Amino acid sequence: MKITEDILYVGVNDHDIDLFEGQYVVPNGMAYNSYVILDDQVAVMDTVDARFAGQWLDNVKQALGQRKPAYLVVQHMEPDHSANVARFMEAYPDAVVVASSKAFAMMKQFFGTDFADRRQVVGDGDTLCLGSHTLRFVTAPMVHWPEVLMTYDESAKVLFSADAFGKFGALDVQEEWACEARRYYIGIVGKYGAQVQVVLGKLGKAELSAICPLHGPVLTGELGRYLELYNIWSSYGVESEGVVIAYTSVYGHTREAVELLADRLRQRGCPEVVVTDLARCDMAEAVEDAFRYGTLVLATTTYNGEIFPFMHTFLHNLTERNFQNRKVAFVENGSWAPLAAKTMKKLLEGSKQLTFAETTVTLRSALDDASRRQVEALAEELWPGDGR
Ligand code: FEO
Repeated sequence: MKITEDILYVGVNDHDIDLFEGQYVVPNGMAYNSYVILDDQVAVMDTVDARFAGQWLDNVKQALGQRKPAYLVVQHMEPDHSANVARFMEAYPDAVVVASSKAFAMMKQFFGTDFADRRQVVGDGDTLCLGSHTLRFVTAPMVHWPEVLMTYDESAKVLFSADAFGKFGALDVQEEWACEARRYYIGIVGKYGAQVQVVLGKLGKAELSAICPLHGPVLTGELGRYLELYNIWSSYGVESEGVVIAYTSVYGHTREAVELLADRLRQRGCPEVVVTDLARCDMAEAVEDAFRYGTLVLATTTYNGEIFPFMHTFLHNLTERNFQNRKVAFVENGSWAPLAAKTMKKLLEGSKQLTFAETTVTLRSALDDASRRQVEALAEELWPGDGR
């Protein structure tokens, strides 16, 4: 596959994977992207997951024809991209590895060698001239590991963006970009919004004709839309108007309250109400939604003097990703000593720029007239417009 006349795609699709990075379900598989830049000197951009070594080396060989690569650029040392560095260096004994100093330290850890006699260490702003292509390196620490480099091809105006702008899903499956790119971003890089903002600033107004990430499709066309979404996500902005209600329910009573609240919000004109059962959903999808919408309702039972375990896990997933800048409301249930709202609020106390709804819904076992009135009041508080 050609990205331009002399930039070729040599990555692979993975439909065998069960959990990406050991935790994310990927129903449409995963792509590990790698590219070859054919110039006076040839550069290969990153490798792929270990399970695809043979296929990837064949792809590289085919792209090279009779040529030999001068450089292997290693932008990121996570093994889904770096697993075949040592194999590549064996296959092409004249090639030089180009990477950051932190990446070489990790190579020593992973492979037992940092290729001391065959390496070129690069840092922020350094360039590598291949002939007509000049590669400018942009350090991108914590997007997604500390050693990461992005690479801007100044002549082709192509950004090799490492994990950034990637998504879940193999490339032979057609699906909308934003949904799986958002779940990927929030899951994997969500904590590091500040670092992503720094990189977006460094890229500045660089002219771009294509973005070549390490996962997901090569992005062309309206690149401003992808950049704008990254700006929203990394600044913890609100992407979509609406309310997410994340709940757990043991016998269905808390769920009844949640469904009543969702109905009332919809009746009041709330454009999107997303209801998520934390015990049964994909947790990464629920986390993604919490970061997408402006208002989050948390509904759970008091359990062992605390809260139900799935809610605990959900809140941990939010706070470890720097969840912030949202309105939050609580629905609690407790048959003898409801403590859930207090517990949830405490778990969020380190999160910045949260505003809490004045109304908390408290169920004593099941909905009654008093708690129904609280649900009505909460709906009105969260979505004041157009009550019927
Ligand atoms: Fe796709 Fe951070 O590895």
